[in-house]
Amino acid sequence: MGQIIDGKNISKLIRSEIKDRTAAFTDRYGHEPKLAVILVGEDPASKIYVSNKHKACLQTGIGSIVIEMSEDTEETVLIDKIKELNEDSTVNGILVQLPLPKHLNEKKIIEYIDPRKDVDGLTLANSALLYNGNTDCLAPCTPRGVIEILKKEGIKISGKHAVIVGRSMLVGKPLAMLLLNENATVTVCHSRTEDLGAVTRTADILISAVGRPGLVKAEDVKDGATVIDVGTTRVDGKLRGDVDFDSVFEKDVRITPVPGGVGPMTITMLLMNTLQAAEMQEEER
Ligand code: GUN
Repeated sequence: MGQIIDGKNISKLIRSEIKDRTAAFTDRYGHEPKLAVILVGEDPASKIYVSNKHKACLQTGIGSIVIEMSEDTEETVLIDKIKELNEDSTVNGILVQLPLPKHLNEKKIIEYIDPRKDVDGLTLANSALLYNGNTDCLAPCTPRGVIEILKKEGIKISGKHAVIVGRSMLVGKPLAMLLLNENATVTVCHSRTEDLGAVTRTADILISAVGRPGLVKAEDVKDGATVIDVGTTRVDGKLRGDVDFDSVFEKDVRITPVPGGVGPMTITMLLMNTLQAAEMQEEER
């Protein structure tokens, strides 16, 4: 029988730490840390994510502004907005909600964000720091959330075999770097991996970030493993992870549910990155 890892509860604990640190920051510097989120277009899921980020900021004492731009926004207009926020000394963190409408080049646009304000950790400058093993750079929020879950649950990472399924820029690749920095032995699998189950069965820590419900089944998981499910796919209005939870839970595993696992940690790590960015900017002043 498995054991559930309660991401909601871990998230609550960390948010309470962030709230205290934010209050101390505001006391010391006379202004709150502030996040600016740019939302382009009308994607319903993105709207919900952005609204949740905004609420979470306010609950922890972090200032938040949301800039909504129309679906047909021209690239130069969006870039000018980013430049304006880079120059605004009251803004500490900038996030461009993804995906952007098709006519906008995400990689190009993200590069205009000042790396010191890049709370998504997606600029080339921040990826390079992560690749170099820098432990206090701004790293992408979801992978950071996965590491925090493992640490808060007291799961040993050093020397363990971590298998990641998925090689995205937002999760798989940066997570591989973070796990390496924690001295795990890391394998990254993806859609072309042959005999995926043979690889995942060797994992002490198995992380799936693909977006394919039911991909990971009981026979793909070793007894005693920790299973972190980053997948989120909406099926008939319900959120489903990549892991076939019911069958895997029959085994001796620790496992994050969907919803209530990694999800709440992503926003928590965004709050953490915003606070960290604000602290780093004040130290530089
Ligand atoms: N869309 C889904 N997840 C994310 C994220 O972590 N950052 C941004 N900017 N957009 C997203």
